Amino acid sequence: MSVLGKNPYRPGTNVPPAYLAGREEALRTFNRVLDSSPEIPANVRLTGLRGVGKSVLLGQFEQSAKDRHWLAARIELEPRHNDEDALSTLIRSLSDEVIRRRSVGVRIKEIAAGVTRAVRWNAVDGLEVFVDPLASGKTSSVTKALADVVEVALNHGDAGFVLLLDEAQVLFDDHRAKRQEHPLSMLISAVAGLQSTGAPVALVLCGLPTLQANLLRARTYTERMFTGERIESLDADSAQQAFLRPLDGSGVTVESNLVAQVIEEVDGYPYFIQLWGAELWEAARDRETAAFSVELLESTRPRIYRRLDRDFYEGRLATLTAAEQDLLLTSGMAQYPPLHVADLRTRTPKSEKYVNVLVGRLVEAGVIYREAKGTYRYTAPQFHEFLQRHLERQSRPNRD
Ligand SMILES: Nc1ncnc2c1ncn2[C@@H]1O[C@H](COP(=O)(O)OP(=O)(O)O)[C@@H](O)[C@H]1O
Ligand SMILES: [Mg+2]
Repeated sequence: MSVLGKNPYRPGTNVPPAYLAGREEALRTFNRVLDSSPEIPANVRLTGLRGVGKSVLLGQFEQSAKDRHWLAARIELEPRHNDEDALSTLIRSLSDEVIRRRSVGVRIKEIAAGVTRAVRWNAVDGLEVFVDPLASGKTSSVTKALADVVEVALNHGDAGFVLLLDEAQVLFDDHRAKRQEHPLSMLISAVAGLQSTGAPVALVLCGLPTLQANLLRARTYTERMFTGERIESLDADSAQQAFLRPLDGSGVTVESNLVAQVIEEVDGYPYFIQLWGAELWEAARDRETAAFSVELLESTRPRIYRRLDRDFYEGRLATLTAAEQDLLLTSGMAQYPPLHVADLRTRTPKSEKYVNVLVGRLVEAGVIYREAKGTYRYTAPQFHEFLQRHLERQSRPNRD
């Protein structure tokens, strides 16, 4: 007879956990930023490594904004949106969608704060005021799309409109002669232009650490424009909560040494916590036991790492070209952290110039990010260890 029911852990991307641990401070900051708008423009930059819990937190931001009577739209950007036309089209259709939804669900009761703001902003007297005459046509069409939602929001008594963009590191300004595409600048100019008129519009950009550098290169003033939230791995207490709380009411007993062991292995990374928990649960169920023991962990560990490599890391490798993969695997043999390009060069027959090109492409692919001149880090936690496991498997093709 199976003693355990449904698995309470949720390893995945953008899947809310049964218990969200340790993000109270980040949520408080977000709420404070929204509450101070529009007098202080509400823009948040949310960055962190893969699997640290950014998307889930972004979902919390969206919910929190709605609870505060803001209209909100959240979307995950894709590489194809790194283009002025594609991005402005996307924002236009998002705006139209929000407007349509809002108009269907008209609320009778107006919110006092929203109405006050509406009066103030309407006094600004129309679109002409805030469309920068020097802005490109595309920027002003983004401004117009956002202004339309803000107007609908205010007319319905909402506090404003917040746009939440996930995977925003895919946006970057490309100054190469061939492309000359500045989607990120376009977006920022549109938002900043609108905000300068007092319009209650908020922008949350969420993504890998690369996002910060992309923003800096796009517009020099962005550093002051955004409240930066760097999402780190959970501290030991929160990690323990994240691991144990989903077990509440399940009847599972947990050996205290096991907790210590798991907490050490997962290094505070939410994705790992969910994965370790999920696999332990499955293993316990297979054995028809309700006890999480160190011994259970020992025997489950190979399965945990196989799943981790398959679900979390290998997909990244698969999207790269052979030459990019080759350089990335070479980096698995280099010193880390951080990764020194100079060190990489000594380990590959590729020319200096080619190594630089490949490093640039790995950054664009979101696999590594630049830390300082000549040094880089992986965007996924424990990626170096994964590369080493991968290399070892390659050198022993007949095993596992
Ligand atoms: N604060 C948290 N506490 C517990 N689990 C979390 C927390 N944040 C995220 N998770 C879990 O971690 C995994 C990765 O979350 P996600 O938001 O997709 O990460 P990211 O967007 O940073 O790659 C999911 O399985 C999610 O359920
Ligand atoms: Mg994410």
